[in-house]
Amino acid sequence: MSDTFGELDHPPRLLMGPGPSNVHPRVLRAMSASVLGQFDPEFTAYMNQTMALYRRVFATANRWTFLIDGTSRAAIEAALVSVLAPGEGVVILNAGRFGLLLSEIAGRCEAELTLVEAPWGEVIAPEAVAAAVARAKPRLIACVHGDTSTTMAQPIEGLGAIARAHGALLYVDATATLGGMPIPTDAWGADIVTAGLQKCMGGPPGSAPITLSDRAAEHIAARRHVERGLAGAEAVGAGRRIASNYFDLAMLMDYWSDKRLNHHTEAASMLYAAREAARVVLEEGLEVRFARHALAGAAMTAGVEAMGLGVYGDPAHRMSNITGVIAPQGVDYDRVRTRMRTDFEIEIGAAFGPLAGKLWRIGAMGINARKHAVLTTLAALEAVLRGEGFGFTSGSGVDAAMAIYEQAAR
Ligand SMILES: Cc1ncc(COP(=O)(O)O)c(C=O)c1O
Repeated sequence: MSDTFGELDHPPRLLMGPGPSNVHPRVLRAMSASVLGQFDPEFTAYMNQTMALYRRVFATANRWTFLIDGTSRAAIEAALVSVLAPGEGVVILNAGRFGLLLSEIAGRCEAELTLVEAPWGEVIAPEAVAAAVARAKPRLIACVHGDTSTTMAQPIEGLGAIARAHGALLYVDATATLGGMPIPTDAWGADIVTAGLQKCMGGPPGSAPITLSDRAAEHIAARRHVERGLAGAEAVGAGRRIASNYFDLAMLMDYWSDKRLNHHTEAASMLYAAREAARVVLEEGLEVRFARHALAGAAMTAGVEAMGLGVYGDPAHRMSNITGVIAPQGVDYDRVRTRMRTDFEIEIGAAFGPLAGKLWRIGAMGINARKHAVLTTLAALEAVLRGEGFGFTSGSGVDAAMAIYEQAAR
């Protein structure tokens, strides 16, 4: 008889990396509700409720606010492939791995790429974007809000006006910040914003909320080509057919509209998760939640600095929910992460590209943007670094973080 390996049996782990983060228990419970078909009236009501909830989470009045089935990158891909036809221009803000991901996906769409770049650890000035857009006259400006590879938050203010002044659309990847830092979609003038659940939203990976302005929806609808097996008297757009079937936002809008034109089988359990995650977020209140993430980030930063560790990147533009901790000389970078996990059941993140081996990325997101998670992580890091022979005053990290929480409570 072949081995069936046994049930999943790992210990609960505190996920303090750049995502995924621990899932809110209410979200886990919602995921165990029985699966319904996507045309069941109860289920279509859940779909409509999910759209309404995410309008509030994205701070938008956009009609087209729904979910892409897949991880965050599914929504990024859906946005780019549905907007960009081959040969169309896109200006991409690139100051990290996820800016590069945008250029990688836009390249596969055979778009004409113009990159506006800054060194990792910095952000891009709007003037540089305006100049590039004036030159390239692109269809789309694409950027990442919180780039987890560098822990920097790109200011988005002003980019919507630049896009409008040049007849372009503005796309923002808010995967790592939705539910943790303000994402004022309409106030930014952003035309498409996408995210995921697994970071500040307190859900699991596998569902990607998206919102589209009417301008973006009109542009995409002009590329609408309904699947042959479904097409009746459906209008076909004059624009070029979108190169992906699964990520065709024109067909997905039909699916999420009252037409309920069939597309994929909705990932019912993920929709339950997304719906419950949004309910948890909105019940807490967006402002309260942003403040909770900012406080956790401030406490984490104070803690690691008090231990004599450096914090990465331009302090004026750091994400509040992920701290880039510079690994000190003489300690074994990988062993520190391993011992955090094996001795303390805490996951912290490694880094990519030019920062590989130099930076640990410590997140405090969703339910983990809390005092106990921050203090436990700092206490464990202190113990592990002591074991590596790194010299600092024992308890200094935890004390500094506690002081931040005490100050905030006054
Ligand atoms: C800013 C950003 N964009 C996109 C992604 C890709 O998300 P996913 O792995 O959920 O597809 C990530 C993942 O870490 C991210 O941090």
